[in-house]
Amino acid sequence: MNEFKPGLEGVIAFETEIAEPDREGGALRYRGVDIEELVGRVPYEKVWGLLVDESLDPGMPEPEPFVLARPTGNAPSDLQAATARLSAEWGLRKLVDLDDRDARDDLARLSATMMSVVAQSARGRGQQRVPDDVVAQGETAAERFLLRWRGEADPRHVKAIDTYWICTAEHGLNASTFTARITASTGADCGAAMSAAVGALSGPLHGGAPARVLPMLDEVERTQDPEAYVKDVLARHQRIMGFGHRIYRAEDPRARLLRRTAKELASRRFEVAEELEHVALAALREYKPDRPLETNVEFWSAVVLDVAEIPHDLTPAMFACARVAGWSAHILEEKRTGRLIRPSARYVGPSPRPLSAVAGTPVPG
Ligand code: COA
Repeated sequence: MNEFKPGLEGVIAFETEIAEPDREGGALRYRGVDIEELVGRVPYEKVWGLLVDESLDPGMPEPEPFVLARPTGNAPSDLQAATARLSAEWGLRKLVDLDDRDARDDLARLSATMMSVVAQSARGRGQQRVPDDVVAQGETAAERFLLRWRGEADPRHVKAIDTYWICTAEHGLNASTFTARITASTGADCGAAMSAAVGALSGPLHGGAPARVLPMLDEVERTQDPEAYVKDVLARHQRIMGFGHRIYRAEDPRARLLRRTAKELASRRFEVAEELEHVALAALREYKPDRPLETNVEFWSAVVLDVAEIPHDLTPAMFACARVAGWSAHILEEKRTGRLIRPSARYVGPSPRPLSAVAGTPVPG
């Protein structure tokens, strides 16, 4: 296949047994199990087990003792740096030198500890650490995450975070997962693959959209005029955050589940979000009649994370916490293929020419 596909849209790069979104938007299944069955039945750490080990037990372990020395206030940056450092501090071996069992254990330690890094980064500089015995009182990963961050875990916040993490734990071959697989395919260690994925996820077209949804809701709440807001964004040829998807051509099933959760948790933003969604969908249908642009996961994620009082700028790191499961599963799957990823590019640059034709070439003499 030599056809060039911008953004690799529709290109099949791997075969996977982990999960793949159903394009028409009906459902999202992890190892065959619909996420509708998981939410509220099993906590996130068991879903990690389902994705990585294809078994709920033992699931994701407890984090290793780790102190984030100087939180910067930028959680994705703290997470990326700390994850890369863990490779060296723990002496993680290269994937090519590990058997599957050891690679899985490295990924389990990393996944759990990355959550602790985000909680510590969120707590911030100059705050006393929450004592370990207080954190240990939490029964689930979401509870312990909140305890490590805030010293308390409101049950509504726990439900919001656990639901969000389960819904966004894995989603086939998106940019960060592709990055994790590419890095793993070089035989690098698991910390390198996970930290590379964090970098890919920090961009607003992938993991950062919820951070831009809430300001949008704030604005509509202030003006009480969603039509004017949407019209203005489209007139400036900008994107309405939380709509459109590379894969789905119908409603994202995660948006459906998260919308329901936002309602169940009595989000104070539910009404304005529903109204804006309605208006945006109508406007997008008119704006791009040939390309279905439906609500994506990020729109209702923003509302659910807001219930848990997650600050806007922490949403990419929250997404990274969720995605440690998907990344781990894909890194292991990639390791088993043992094949370096190395696609091709078609050269369309200048024809052969002398150095003297290039700007800045020193003139002799
Ligand atoms: N608002 C307005 N227009 C949108 C749009 C949105 N949310 N999403 C896509 N479009 C438009 C694009 O401007 C483009 O128009 P053009 O052909 O005139 O340039 C067309 O629809 C196709 O968009 P494209 O960027 O090719 O689609 P994609 O598959 O690459 O995009 C997203 C997928 C998610 C990156 C894109 O829909 C987007 O940027 N959404 C907003 C950000 C977001 O919610 N991200 C979270 C994703 S889960």
